[in-house]
Amino acid sequence: MTEQIVKDALGTVTYPGFTKDIVTFGFVKDIKIDGTNVEVNVDISSSAPEVAQQIKDDATMALGRVGVTGCKVNVLAPKMPKESSSKGKNIAPDVKNFIMISSGKGGVGKSTTSVNLAIALAQQGKKVGLLDADIYGPNIPRMMGVQDVKPQVEGNKVEPIRAYGVSMMSMGSLMEQGQSLIWRGSMIMKAIEQFLRDIKWGDLDCLVIDMPPGTGDAQLTLAQSVPVTVGVTVTTPQMVSLDDSRRSLDMFKKLNIPIAGIVENMSGFIAPDTGVEYDIFGKGTTQPMADEFDTKIIAEIPIEPSIRTGGDEGKPITFVNPTSESAKRYFAAAESIWNQIEKINEEGGVDNNAIQPTTPAGVSACSTGAAAKPAPQEASSGSCGTGCGCH
Ligand SMILES: Nc1ncnc2c1ncn2[C@@H]1O[C@H](COP(=O)(O)OP(=O)(O)O)[C@@H](O)[C@H]1O
Ligand SMILES: [Mg+2]
Repeated sequence: MTEQIVKDALGTVTYPGFTKDIVTFGFVKDIKIDGTNVEVNVDISSSAPEVAQQIKDDATMALGRVGVTGCKVNVLAPKMPKESSSKGKNIAPDVKNFIMISSGKGGVGKSTTSVNLAIALAQQGKKVGLLDADIYGPNIPRMMGVQDVKPQVEGNKVEPIRAYGVSMMSMGSLMEQGQSLIWRGSMIMKAIEQFLRDIKWGDLDCLVIDMPPGTGDAQLTLAQSVPVTVGVTVTTPQMVSLDDSRRSLDMFKKLNIPIAGIVENMSGFIAPDTGVEYDIFGKGTTQPMADEFDTKIIAEIPIEPSIRTGGDEGKPITFVNPTSESAKRYFAAAESIWNQIEKINEEGGVDNNAIQPTTPAGVSACSTGAAAKPAPQEASSGSCGTGCGCH
């Protein structure tokens, strides 16, 4: 058997759908001959499995006709582009991307932002989940208009509640209304893990996660349990809120979470009667912080009475009034976030291996005060170095 005989034989195999053969196309890469045994690598440009199979069958037959007795045809097709290329620990592997919505403090509009971004992403064709990880003050069920809906339990898994094209779950949906619980750090960690593991999220393009305010156990546990694709910080333009937001952005950095941007909420006021926009808390205060963290402001959402009533009545503005100015800004922010997610995945995705705990399972590095992975500059300042803000 010679290489020429093999090439001539393969020259009779046409590329499915074309008149040219796989040799002329230059797809035949390596030919190994051992007596009448032949192994060839065919590197094709299509990822369709039926194309690969047909080339394999035709090549095997063609080689059989010229006296090859043992034949191995390896068809190397390009891999499908990955929708998520993240690595490390992921206890919710059906979810391709995780968007963590954080703020330094409460009341700045984190839940409002989470709801409207989730709906905007869903309207833009993504399969979206919304996890209310604010176990102290779960507001998402009310804001999504499902505060009276109880989730269905199947075995030890819970079905998320569907609203406005989004799959939602919240501690508020699992507790009796008005009930409050006192959470210890280890309970918060357990709850976050269960939210990720025991909710039947199904295949999701992204899970939007409304975090409790601050930088604590919940943030750290989440980042250790799933590779968080991007973080978004919500702030208001006042200086005090900005100080807190800086801590939130710093936490993303310490947890290796790429920052998708800052939502400046309550940025000016649009009068409902005249539509005139007024500057209330000051403007232009957020930009220097964005520059400092090498990120950008992805939305300036004005104070709009219909945003608040939309929240209180469970009628989010992106759904009930998608052409309003604020809704348009949420849509633009969602698009910006998604573009960044795609870019991050193209560049290899995120990896949470470096922030895994060194303490035993179920024990928070924060609770023990031990270092999960101390950064040298933190060692002297007394922080645990994980960005959890525990010190
Ligand atoms: N842009 C806005 N315009 C008007 N009201 C808003 C706006 N953003 C948030 N709110 C209202 O402010 C309150 C706090 O917002 P919320 O999203 O619950 O904050 P957080 O989750 O950060 O505590 C809610 O009553 C909400 O409806
Ligand atoms: Mg909230």
